[in-house]
Amino acid sequence: MRNKIKEIEQQIQQFSIVNKEELERFRIQFLGSKNCIKELFSELKNVPNEDKKEVGQLMNALRGTAQERFDDAKNHLEETRIDDSKIDLSRPGDQIEIGARHPLSLVRSEIIEIFNRIGFVVSEGPEIEDDWHNFSALNFPPEHPARDMQDTFFIEKGANEMALRTHTSSVQVRVMENSKPPIRTISPGRVYRNEAISARAHCFFHQVEGLYIDKDVSFADLKQTLLYFAKEMFGEKAQIRLRPSYFPFTEPSAEVDISCTICNSKGCNVCKYTGWLEILGCGMVDPNVLEASNIDSKEYSGFAFGMGVERIAQLKYRVNDLRLYSENDVRFLKQFTAGM
Ligand code: PHE
Repeated sequence: MRNKIKEIEQQIQQFSIVNKEELERFRIQFLGSKNCIKELFSELKNVPNEDKKEVGQLMNALRGTAQERFDDAKNHLEETRIDDSKIDLSRPGDQIEIGARHPLSLVRSEIIEIFNRIGFVVSEGPEIEDDWHNFSALNFPPEHPARDMQDTFFIEKGANEMALRTHTSSVQVRVMENSKPPIRTISPGRVYRNEAISARAHCFFHQVEGLYIDKDVSFADLKQTLLYFAKEMFGEKAQIRLRPSYFPFTEPSAEVDISCTICNSKGCNVCKYTGWLEILGCGMVDPNVLEASNIDSKEYSGFAFGMGVERIAQLKYRVNDLRLYSENDVRFLKQFTAGM
């Protein structure tokens, strides 16, 4: 009997356990429900009485040895499995690429912040507009050539005329319809015009338009607001000049230039050697526009302005091709950070 125990002990020690299958075979042979040590125990009754205690102890020890070998082998296999799958825990992790904000988003936020500081709140509206909000309420008479001037993309012609908005003045109509003066709002958003795509024009671009309606709003308020904007956006040295212009919804109307920030007004190819750069359109809201939205034009007056975000971004970041903004080339997009 003692010999048998020794033999089994040797088998336990020598059993090769290098994979899961062998581990399982070991378990069945020495620890399973019909294991060989159990068989030995069943033979204990044949051992002479005086030896029973000692042999019993040897068998118990044998069972312990089997369990120990099993546990060790199992732990070892679990450890080496990590090596097997070739995971190197000391290897540095993959770099996570952090994205950057789009230059137009940066400029848009900056414009919004500047106007927020003097009490303008943001309002937004739909990109697909009806004729009323994009044209009629803004004093565009039917068949007026100014409708062509805007190169509209029509979606539906006729009585239910729908189009992609050509400017965010449409949002301002919605604000005037839905709130009472005083109104101080800016409407940022994407607008669409049917233009051939080139470095200087695109079929969609972004605007921020502003509207201020209250009692006694004057042209001087408009001019000062725009000067404040120019200095905040382009620096204390920035100057503005206003040139007479025409928009159906404002009277008088003007186009606004800022002093060229690139050459300090000395003349360069960006400002075409004039020292000035055009950045926005503006004017006093035409009384017809106020009346169309049920605002009493005898009591209230207002000013409006509208600028292209791409144009401002172009001057701020010296980007000379409009198409870059919508091509999603990460090499381009990665170059912009807030506060430049
Ligand atoms: N809506 C005009 C445009 O898109 C800009 C503008 C807004 C001009 C407000 C004057 C007043 O060109």
